Amino acid sequence: MHFQWYPGHMTKAKRMMQENIKLIDLVIELVDARIPMSSRNPDIDELGKQKARLILLNKSDLAEDRQNELWAEYFKGKGYSVVKVNSKKGGGIKSIQGVIQEACREKIERDRKRGILNRPVRAMVVGIPNVGKSTFINALAGKACAKTGNKPGVTKGKQWIRLNKNVELLDTPGILWPKFEDQSVGLKLAMIGSIKDEILNTEELAGEIIRFMTEHYQGTLSEKYDMEETSDVYACLSRIAESKHCLLRGSELDTAKAAMMVVDDFRNGRLGKITLEFPEDYE
Ligand code: G4P
Repeated sequence: MHFQWYPGHMTKAKRMMQENIKLIDLVIELVDARIPMSSRNPDIDELGKQKARLILLNKSDLAEDRQNELWAEYFKGKGYSVVKVNSKKGGGIKSIQGVIQEACREKIERDRKRGILNRPVRAMVVGIPNVGKSTFINALAGKACAKTGNKPGVTKGKQWIRLNKNVELLDTPGILWPKFEDQSVGLKLAMIGSIKDEILNTEELAGEIIRFMTEHYQGTLSEKYDMEETSDVYACLSRIAESKHCLLRGSELDTAKAAMMVVDDFRNGRLGKITLEFPEDYE
């Protein structure tokens, strides 16, 4: 699942994206609903200009419902079509076809005026690694959809998945890379598990999760781990270790084990639906 970024990957991915984007009408951009800004790459706006745009708030099952709503409003206000999805369980997938038609209304209208009828909309899925692109494509295309293979006018080797008579999807998603220069972006990506654990010390990461939770979701940790929260994150971690009997030999507290548990619980939604960044901070 984990992915490491090398400059070579990035250059290749960007080149592929630039080639593929010429072929499509609609960019379907997946973001992680827990960090809709930090899981984007702003270059996509430049790459995808003059294309219809659809943003999917994926993994919406792991993010707070109210914040999902606010983020949807935020992106709609900026001119994107938006759908909240849970690609893993299929939530929101059914509405996508209708939204695609709506997002591409101008193109369809333009075609119609030129006498081109029933030309399917061509779409490409893009997003950072681990955001759920493959899961989404599988959920949307299902097993029934045959690949259409090469067609005249399409770069050789490109495979299109025909979703129905109105929509074709490029079978390989476009990989974007997150913006690493900003440290807070890297931290949030690490918190949700999108960058390799080894880059960060697990206890530091757990500390950041505890800091965020005690500030924004007060009471959640106390309830989950049956301990009293404090503003000192490392004291908190020790209390979690104590409460959950994370012990080394000689009954010393095993805070490394407790940290791993906190990180894992957080990433898998066992601390509840958590959103790490809020639209009000980006107005
Ligand atoms: P990518 O192509 O963009 O790199 O992402 P991919 O589809 O491989 O998905 C990355 C991980 O995110 C997978 O988990 C996948 O199951 C999970 N995922 C995708 N969409 C959703 C969603 O809407 N909600 C939730 N909760 N999870 C989602 P994994 O740990 O790699 O595999 P597994 O645990 O599913 O086996």
